[in-house]
Amino acid sequence: MDLAGAIALVTGANGGLGQHYVEALRSRGVAKIYAGARNLKALEPLVTDHPDVVVPIALDITNEQSVNEAAANCQDVTLLINNAGVGFNEGLIAASDLAHARMEMEVNYFGTLMMCRAFAPVLKQNGGGAIVNMGSMVGRVNLPFNGSYGASKAATLSLTQGVRAELAAQGTQVIAVLPATINIGMGKAYPEPKVSPEEVVSDALDAVVQGIEDVYPGEQAKQMAAQLLTDPKGLEKALATMLPGSF
Ligand SMILES: NC(=O)c1ccc[n+]([C@@H]2O[C@H](COP(=O)([O-])OP(=O)(O)OC[C@H]3O[C@@H](n4cnc5c(N)ncnc54)[C@H](OP(=O)(O)O)[C@@H]3O)[C@@H](O)[C@H]2O)c1
Repeated sequence: MDLAGAIALVTGANGGLGQHYVEALRSRGVAKIYAGARNLKALEPLVTDHPDVVVPIALDITNEQSVNEAAANCQDVTLLINNAGVGFNEGLIAASDLAHARMEMEVNYFGTLMMCRAFAPVLKQNGGGAIVNMGSMVGRVNLPFNGSYGASKAATLSLTQGVRAELAAQGTQVIAVLPATINIGMGKAYPEPKVSPEEVVSDALDAVVQGIEDVYPGEQAKQMAAQLLTDPKGLEKALATMLPGSF
């Protein structure tokens, strides 16, 4: 897919990585960027910096009415970036109740799924386009430190594969971006190594251009993906030492 002239929508555009997506899309010549956020005020810096391309929209991806309104109002989208997500750094057993685990599933799985469903017909009418879903390496192998988040990201990866299959016939590319820790947003609390947000969004947008389905930005993610092919149990056991509250 050619990014020059594309029309993008980024969810969670006010967040750490979301802002980098908007900047990178702009510098690659995207014609219009719908920046989605729950709180429009949080988008003011992006709109002020790029009034020529950034169109702010109120969007809560867990609210069906909000998602449907976004689809109705953004009928020209050719590139959907499902970046919005939540993570509470809680264990599956150590958490005091299931409230945060449910919220992670509500945003990272059901919210992303609702966006894919609402925008599939929009992308079809605009020639196919692409969907980028922000997953995580902890969706491929559980990190007990944030065990319930990893489970929700495993669900995000599974939905990405299923949506990819269902939308292939209409020519929509569906891309999974699977970094380990990013040096921004929810990654701030984590120890090194970390990949830069610039590298993550650059790899994701390269994947859109080159038609790559699964993207592993940064050395840590690439090494983990390689180990999953050769020694998946070894990787699981290594991460098993990182228990809730251990860093
Ligand atoms: N940072 C990392 O180390 C890392 C690693 C792997 C994957 N990821 C993934 O990368 C994505 C971006 O993460 P980040 O580090 O940039 O986190 P962040 O700074 O916390 O940003 C998350 C964004 O999602 C938005 N959001 C949360 N719930 C929403 C909802 N119901 N509807 C719409 N927007 C919602 C937040 O909006 P509010 O400001 O309104 O809360 C915020 O804009 C996430 O999907 C995350 O899981 C991050």
